[in-house]
Amino acid sequence: MQNIIHTTDDSRPKVYIETYGCQMNVNDSEVILSILQDEGYSLTEDIDQADLILANTCSIRDNAEQRIWGRLDQFRLQKRRRSGVVIGIVGCMAERLKDKLLDGHEVDIVAGPDAYRNLPEMLKALTPDNPQIDVLLSHEETYADISPVRMDKKGVSAFISIMRGCNNVCSYCVVPYTRGAERSRDPESILREARELHEAGYKEVTLLGQNVDSYDWKAEDGRSVNFPQLLEKVALVSPQMRVRFSTSHPKDISDEVIYTMAKYENICKHIHLPVQSGSSIMLEKMRRKYNREWYLERVAKIRSVIPDCGITTDVIAGFCGETQQDHLDTLTLMEEVVFDSAFMFAYSERPGTLASKKYPDDIPYETKTARLNEIITLQGRMSLKSNEKEIGKTLKVLVEGPSKKNHEELCGRASNNKMCVFPSRGEKAGDYCEVIVDSVTSATLICSRKD
Ligand code: SAH
Ligand code: SF4
Ligand code: F3S
Repeated sequence: MQNIIHTTDDSRPKVYIETYGCQMNVNDSEVILSILQDEGYSLTEDIDQADLILANTCSIRDNAEQRIWGRLDQFRLQKRRRSGVVIGIVGCMAERLKDKLLDGHEVDIVAGPDAYRNLPEMLKALTPDNPQIDVLLSHEETYADISPVRMDKKGVSAFISIMRGCNNVCSYCVVPYTRGAERSRDPESILREARELHEAGYKEVTLLGQNVDSYDWKAEDGRSVNFPQLLEKVALVSPQMRVRFSTSHPKDISDEVIYTMAKYENICKHIHLPVQSGSSIMLEKMRRKYNREWYLERVAKIRSVIPDCGITTDVIAGFCGETQQDHLDTLTLMEEVVFDSAFMFAYSERPGTLASKKYPDDIPYETKTARLNEIITLQGRMSLKSNEKEIGKTLKVLVEGPSKKNHEELCGRASNNKMCVFPSRGEKAGDYCEVIVDSVTSATLICSRKD
C-alpha cells in the first residue's frame, strides 16, 4: 500500500525537502521520503522545524543552478541559527558538481540520483568534520521496490517512473551526465504501483522517463516489454484511472504507441513531443536524430489517428550558430503545427556537454532574448488559436479542486491536458465532470455544465 505522510509526530527527526527541475525529480523526492520515513524521519513543510534540509536539484540550465545557490545561502542561515541542522544537496546538481559542493559551502551531504538508498548510511556516518558524498551512477538502479510517499495531498494524480537515465546525446543536454545510462524498470513493479494507486483512490497516473518510447525491459528468460505494451497493461488496470506519459522523443515515438493511445479511452490524448528547433541544420547540430520533415510527419500521423490529440513541445532559442533563417524555421514550424502549449528556453551552455566542447555559444544575449520573446509571443497566439477550436465541444474533465480565482468554480484537465474552469455542483477532487467549452483564453477553457 502507499505510505502515509506523517507531519504531526513531534518525536521523530524532521526532514524538509525542496524539489527543483522535472517531474522525475518530483517523483525522486517521493522515493527519498520513503527511504527516510523507514529510518524514522517525518516530513515537515516548515524549514524552521527541520533537522535535515534537502534540496533535490536540477542542472538543466544555468539559471536553475543559480536559484539553488541562492537557496543554499538561506539554508546556511538555518544552520547558524540552530546547531545540528544537516544540509543535503541531492539530484542532478549534486551529480554534476560532486565534491565542489563541499568546498566551503557548509553542505553535509551530497548524493546523486542513484545514491538515495545510501542516504540512511550517509546520515549515520556524518560528523561535523566528515561530510558524506555518494555520486556513483548505476546501470541497474530503478528503485523498483520502493513505494514513493506521495507528497501531493489531493490523492488524485501520481507519477510513476518507468525508467531512469538517458542514452541519447543531445549535444546541449546535461541529463545523460547527471542521470547516467538509460535503464527500464521491471513492468511488474510498475503495474503493482499502478494497482496500489488505483486501490488508494488515485484517478490518474503519469508514466515518466526522459524518453518513454525507448522503454525496453528484458527478462532473463528472453521475454520483453516495450513502451506500447506497457502502456496497454497500465491502461487495463482500471478504465476509471487515466494514464498519461512524458516525455516522447520524436525520433522514437512509434505508430504502435499512437494506435495504443487511440484504443483506450483512459489513455489521455496528449503527447509532449519536444521539437527544440524547426531548423534541420540546428536539429543536426543538436544531435536530435530527426529533421523538420520527420517531426512534421509524426505530427501528421498523430493527428490522422487521433484528431483531437493535444500536442505540446519544448523549444530552445539561440542554440550555437543559429541564424535568423534557422530562427524563422522554428517560427514557421510552430505556426504549421499550432502547439497547444510549449516550454520555451534560451540556450544555456552546460559544461561537459558535446555542444560546450564543439560549438561556441555565439548568439549574443540580446539576440537570444529577442528570439525567445518572439517565440513566446507567437506561442501565445497559437495557444489561443488551438483553444478556440475547442469552443462548443463537450469534454470530460478530472476535477483537481476549486479554481484559484473563484471558489464557486472548479478546475481540472481534459484528456488533451487543457485546463478547464466550470461552475461547481459540489464535486470534489478526483470526480469526473462533463463540460461544454463556452469561451477561451490562451491558457484556459471556460466551460459550462452539460445538461
Ligand atoms: N528528455 C526530454 C527533455 C528533458 S530536458 C527530451 O528529450 O525531450 C527538458 C527541456 O529542457 C528540453 O526539452 C529542452 O528544451 C530544454 N533544455 C535542455 N537542455 C537545455 C539547455 N542546455 N539550454 C536550454 N534549454 C535546455
Ligand atoms: Fe537530454 Fe536529449 Fe536525453 Fe532529453 S533525450 S534528456 S534532451 S539527452
Ligand atoms: Fe533537471 Fe535533472 Fe530533471 S537536470 S530537468 S532535474 S533530469
